[in-house]
Amino acid sequence: MPATKASPKEMLPIVDKPLIQYAVDEALGAGADTLVFITGSAKRAIEDHFDSNSELERELEAAGKRELLAAVREIAPGGATCIYIRQSAPLGLGHAVLCAQKVVGDEYFYVHLADDLIDADVPALKQMCKVSASTQGSVVGVQTIPIDETDKYGVVEVDSMTDRIGRLKGIVEKPKPEDAPSQLGVVGRYVLSPGIFDALARIGRGAGGEIQLTDAIAVMLKKEAVHAYEFEGVRYDCGSKLGYLKATVDYALNHPSLGESFADHLIDVADQLRRRKRASG
Ligand code: G1P
Repeated sequence: MPATKASPKEMLPIVDKPLIQYAVDEALGAGADTLVFITGSAKRAIEDHFDSNSELERELEAAGKRELLAAVREIAPGGATCIYIRQSAPLGLGHAVLCAQKVVGDEYFYVHLADDLIDADVPALKQMCKVSASTQGSVVGVQTIPIDETDKYGVVEVDSMTDRIGRLKGIVEKPKPEDAPSQLGVVGRYVLSPGIFDALARIGRGAGGEIQLTDAIAVMLKKEAVHAYEFEGVRYDCGSKLGYLKATVDYALNHPSLGESFADHLIDVADQLRRRKRASG
């Protein structure tokens, strides 16, 4: 806030692409063929972003801006079907997932929260898909979080982790540090069995008065195996200002045409900061 007052946080750009486009690229990279966007009021920009814009394309073509034209045409997730569902009220992540039940049907599916951006050689969802195939069940993406931040995450309880994988014994939403079962926090990536829908239908409102996906996973794991997986990659919490800034800097440094000049600029900035610090004693 205030940047996300009138436009969705998923449309915040990291360098030149909005977060939602990184999410779509990751899902496609993990083999998704149907993309379901659970949106709400003030999220229309997401649908517009993935729609074609013939007027803009004509203008770019007429101006001979071929590279930009190609970039604009690449946005539409070719080969995948996009479905937009409006969540009637902000009743929580569990409720949002329930909104997709009819489209998902009786299949395993991914849940991706776009404000958790993960930079990885192999897309995080693809890594998790492989784990789901080998464990024959649902998988939640986790990472070690600071103990004083457990109340921002779903936190898992596992016996042990082997090769980054551990079978879930429990999961709780946003526990206080003293109540947290571990320091493994769930980040916004899930591979879920359709069994989650029965569980979601059975739970009531949980933490924050919302229908929590975490609570449904806790119910489901009594019947089906759920594993935690420590994905390989760097995760940026773009829902926080600091996380968003870090992502912007790191992605700009890796950008093919901006990276070098941006690195030069950062070196200048760092020199100035060092001088200023020295001068102030
Ligand atoms: C949601 C989930 C939480 C998870 C987090 C990851 O919380 O409810 O379990 O750890 O995403 O980003 P939110 O950040 O929407 O409060």
